[in-house]
Amino acid sequence: MTERLADLLKEALQELSKAPAMDAVLQVKAKYLGRKGGIAALLKEMGALPPEERKKAGEAINRAKDRLEEEVEKAIASFQEREREENLRKERVDITLPGRRISRGTKHPVTQVMEEVGEIFYGLGFDIEEGPEVELDYYNFEALNLPKDHPARDMQDTFYVNDEVLLRTHTSPVQIRVMEKKRPPLRVIAPGTVYRRDSDITHTPMFHQVEGFMVDKNVTFSNLKGVLTLFLHKLFGEKTGIRFRPSFFPFTEPSAEIDIECVICGGKGCRVCKGSGWLEILGAGMIHPEVFRAVGYSTEEYTGFAFGLGIERIAMLKFGIDDLRLFFENDLKFLRQF
Ligand code: DAH
Repeated sequence: MTERLADLLKEALQELSKAPAMDAVLQVKAKYLGRKGGIAALLKEMGALPPEERKKAGEAINRAKDRLEEEVEKAIASFQEREREENLRKERVDITLPGRRISRGTKHPVTQVMEEVGEIFYGLGFDIEEGPEVELDYYNFEALNLPKDHPARDMQDTFYVNDEVLLRTHTSPVQIRVMEKKRPPLRVIAPGTVYRRDSDITHTPMFHQVEGFMVDKNVTFSNLKGVLTLFLHKLFGEKTGIRFRPSFFPFTEPSAEIDIECVICGGKGCRVCKGSGWLEILGAGMIHPEVFRAVGYSTEEYTGFAFGLGIERIAMLKFGIDDLRLFFENDLKFLRQF
C-alpha cells in the first residue's frame, strides 16, 4: 500500500506539472482528491488493514493528501495569476498614443459678414429684428409705396405663392412690421434671406440682405450720411473713399445709392468695378411719407432714414471672391478658407 500511495502521489504530481491550463488542474484535483478519487479509494481500502498498520497508513495517506492539495492550490493560484496578468495586458491603454483631432467647422462667409454688420450697428445702438421669408404682398410691396400697378414692381422678379402671398424680394417689409408694432424712437437692423427669380453669374435665386432704419423726431439726411459713412469705414477701413449718388426707390424720398472706392484696384479702375473705380454697395434714403402713413406714424412729427445692402456682394468684396455661386455650392475646400 505504501508503494501504491507513493506511485499515486508521483503520478498526480506529474500530471499536475504538465497541466497546460486551469481546467486541467481541476481535472487532476478531481481525479485524485475528489470523493471518488484515488486518495479516497486508498482511505477506503485502509479500513481493511489490521489496526496497528491502519494508523501508519492513515498518517501516510493524509500526508500525501496534504502535499497534493498544497500543490493543487499552488497550481490554481499560479494559473489565476497568469489570467490576471493576461487581462491587465489586454486592457492596457497606451497613453502615449496621439489623440484624434476633432475637426471643427467654420462659419460660412455670408454668416461672418452678417455678424460683422450686426456688430457694427449693435455698437451704434441698433436693435436686431426679423421678419418672415414667406411674406404678404402688402408688406413686401403695397405698404412700401408700391401699389399693384406700380411700374417699379418690375425692378424685382418675384416668386409668388398666390396673388397675395410671395417669397420676400427684400428685407424692407421688416420696416413695416416693426413700425406697426412699435413707436419711435427706433433704431433697427433686420438681416435675412430674400428671393428673386434671377440666376446667372452675379445673381442667385436666394441671397441675403441687411435692412436698417432709424426713425425719430428730427432725423435728417446728415444722420443717414453720418451713420452709413461710419459703418462703411468700419467694414472696409477708414481710408476707403465713399460717395453718395442720387437714385430712386419708391419707399424713400430723396433716395441715394452709396458707392465705395473699388477695394480691388483702389479706385484706378478694373474688371470688378468695370473701370469706374467705384462699387455700388448700399441703397438708402429718407423714409417716404406714404410709408409712414401706412403704419400710422405722423409725418409731421417723425422723419427717418432707411437703407438696404446685399451681404453676398460685401462678402465677395471683403474676401476677394469673384463668383457668387461659390457661396451656395457647399464645397468644403472653398468654405474652409474663411
Ligand atoms: N430694398 C431695396 C432692394 O432690395 C434696398 C433698399 C434701398 C432698402 C433703399 C432700403 C432703402 O431700405 O432705403 O433693392
